[in-house]
Amino acid sequence: MSSEFKTLFFFLLLLRCTISTPPSESFIFNGFTDANLKLDGVAFITSDGLLELTNATRQMQGHAFHPNPLKFKSPTGKILSFSTTFVFAILSEISDLSGHGIAFVVSRTRNLSSALPSQYLGLFNISNNGNASNHVFAVELDTILSSEFNDISDNHVGIDVNSLKSSSSHDAGYYDNKTGVFKNLTLISGQPMQLWVDFKGEEMELNVTLSPIRMPKPNKLINPSCRRKLIFRA
Ligand SMILES: *[C@@H]1O[C@H](CO)[C@@H](O)[C@H](O)[C@H]1NC(C)=O
Ligand SMILES: *[C@@H]1O[C@H](CO)[C@@H](O)[C@H](O)[C@H]1NC(C)=O
Ligand SMILES: *[C@@H]1O[C@H](CO)[C@@H](O)[C@H](O)[C@H]1NC(C)=O
Ligand SMILES: *[C@@H]1O[C@H](CO)[C@@H](O)[C@H](O)[C@H]1NC(C)=O
Ligand SMILES: *[C@@H]1O[C@H](CO)[C@@H](O)[C@H](O)[C@H]1NC(C)=O
Ligand SMILES: *[C@@H]1O[C@H](CO)[C@@H](O)[C@H](O)[C@H]1NC(C)=O
Ligand SMILES: *[C@@H]1O[C@H](CO)[C@@H](O)[C@H](O)[C@H]1NC(C)=O
Repeated sequence: MSSEFKTLFFFLLLLRCTISTPPSESFIFNGFTDANLKLDGVAFITSDGLLELTNATRQMQGHAFHPNPLKFKSPTGKILSFSTTFVFAILSEISDLSGHGIAFVVSRTRNLSSALPSQYLGLFNISNNGNASNHVFAVELDTILSSEFNDISDNHVGIDVNSLKSSSSHDAGYYDNKTGVFKNLTLISGQPMQLWVDFKGEEMELNVTLSPIRMPKPNKLINPSCRRKLIFRA
């Protein structure tokens, strides 16, 4: 089925990440030219510093990892907190159909060479999807309804813990601060959007917020209830 769909262009314009409580690391990339990201698959950095994860060839994948492993545990074993935000756009060859999505991933390994493209989003394969020993969590921006993974729609944001069957998902969009009304955003619109991922280690709580670009971070989350035990191992 996925061969029907044209592949996308993904651009990350800016990535900001802070891991808090000492020892802390923080970085901001305004363009990726000198970011020294570890790329694989068809991912590349364009001459103007954008990260392009896939190109127009179908069923391809690309990954871009921070060059150094980040510590998620303090020396005393306390799980650290982090916040990150990035701007992305999904550009499709045809305006009303595209595949498959993009994910922000935290992984114990950056060798995802056995992961599959298309509905597997470059994260897992048929045999390891759902296995607790993956030690992977991701926030997926998914543009295809894959019923085998219980996807809620063809335009959603999901929190994936070791599995493409999301622990929590929501239609892509945001709650307007003033009115509290939910506004849809179309992931494949080609419009730049901003995703925030906030994680508190003590509570094991992950918050995800999406918004159009140049809008301050909306107040209300799109995942009001995702508290999950996430397991990190060094
Ligand atoms: C996508 O990238 C791959 C690997 O670099 C290349 O073989 C392929 O021709 C590219 N596709 C397009 C449409 O540029
Ligand atoms: C990545 O993992 C695969 C098996 O999944 C293995 O064959 C390959 O050697 C590994 N690559 C590196 C660079 O470790
Ligand atoms: C799936 O990925 C795992 C982890 O990298 C690897 O060990 C396994 O061989 C892969 N399975 C298939 C069928 O590719
Ligand atoms: C999960 O992965 C581990 C390590 O690769 C493997 O030993 C185990 O058999 C897998 N479990 C299942 C249910 O596939
Ligand atoms: C948002 O999109 C979903 C799925 O397409 C639809 O069911 C819902 O009615 C839309 N909501 C608004 C406020 O437009
Ligand atoms: C998640 O959002 C809730 C409600 O706004 C807030 O109380 C909590 O501190 C947030 N947690 C994180 C990890 O940002
Ligand atoms: C929403 O409210 C929060 C906190 O009150 C504020 O920081 C943020 O800038 C507001 N966002 C918008 C889009 O007005």
